[in-house]
Amino acid sequence: MSQIEKAIKIVQREAGKNRGALNTKNTNDTISVKYINTKKFIPNKAVLKKNRVLSVVQDESVIGSYRFLRTRVLQRMKQNNWKTLGVTSTGKNAGKTLTAVNLAISIAMKKNHTALVVDADLRNPSVHHMFGYEPKAGLRDYLKSGARIEDMFFNPGIDNFVFIPGFKRTQASSELLSTQKMSRLVRELKMRYSSRVVIFDLPPVLAGDDVVAFAPNLDAILLVVEEGGTKSHQLKQSLDLLEGSNFIGAVLNKSKHLQSYEYYY
Ligand SMILES: Nc1ncnc2c1ncn2[C@@H]1O[C@H](COP(=O)(O)OP(=O)(O)OP(=O)(O)O)[C@@H](O)[C@H]1O
Ligand SMILES: [Mg+2]
Repeated sequence: MSQIEKAIKIVQREAGKNRGALNTKNTNDTISVKYINTKKFIPNKAVLKKNRVLSVVQDESVIGSYRFLRTRVLQRMKQNNWKTLGVTSTGKNAGKTLTAVNLAISIAMKKNHTALVVDADLRNPSVHHMFGYEPKAGLRDYLKSGARIEDMFFNPGIDNFVFIPGFKRTQASSELLSTQKMSRLVRELKMRYSSRVVIFDLPPVLAGDDVVAFAPNLDAILLVVEEGGTKSHQLKQSLDLLEGSNFIGAVLNKSKHLQSYEYYY
C-alpha cells in the first residue's frame, strides 16, 4: 500500500468515528446579505488565473471537482448543523489556501448560500495574495491592536463571497488565535447569517500549536493531503494531535494519477 493510500485510510477511519454526530434539523432559510462595510474590489483576471482561483477557471473537470467537494461538505455540515470549517494539512504547501478559497467560491455560487473565508494562517497569511490584493490591516490587527473587524470584509467581485485577510505574518500567531477575542469572533461570525459557511484557512498542524489551540473553536476540520508530499506518519501524528475534533474528510490534492484537481473525499 502506498504512503498516500495509507494516509487516506487513516483519515477515512477518523472521519467515520464522527459520522452522525449531532444531526440537527436543516433550516432552508433564504438570506439577504448586506455586507454594509464590505470593501469591493475587482481583481486582475490574470492574477486570478495564475493563482487558479475558481471564479475564472474554465475547465469543467476542475469546476466539477469543487462542486463535488462542496456537495459533500455541505451535506455533512447541514446534517450536523455545522457552520465553521477549518482547512489544514500536516505540512506546508499542500494546497490549503487554494482549497479554502475555491471551496468557498463554489459554495457562494450555490443558490441561497454565502461563504466567508477567514485567513487564520497568521504564520503565512496568503488569502489576499490569491486575489492580488494588499489590505491595510487584517485579522492580526483586530486581535493585536483593536482594529475594527467591520473594516476587514473584502469582496473580490464574486457574489456572496467575502474574505477577512490575515494581513502580515506574526510570530505570536498561536497566542492570538487562542485569545477569547478570537473565540468571540468565531461565535459572532457564525451567528450573524444562518446560511453562511465560514471557512478558516489554517496553518499546517505540525507547524506549531496554532491549529491544536484553535481547533476547539471550530465545528469541523477538512484535511488537505498532498499526493507525494503528505507522509502517513505525519498524518497519523496530526490526527492524534487533533483528537476530539470533527474530521469532515480529506481532499487529495495535486494528484498526478487522477488528472487535474480530482480528489478523494
Ligand atoms: N490542485 C492543484 N494543482 C496545481 N497546483 C496547486 C494545486 N493546489 C495548490 N496548488 C499550488 O500549490 C501552491 C501552494 O498552494 P497553497 O498556497 O494553496 O498551499 P498551502 O497549503 O496554503 O501553503 P502554505 O502551507 O504555504 O500556506 C500554490 O502555488 C498553488 O497554486
Ligand atoms: Mg496557505
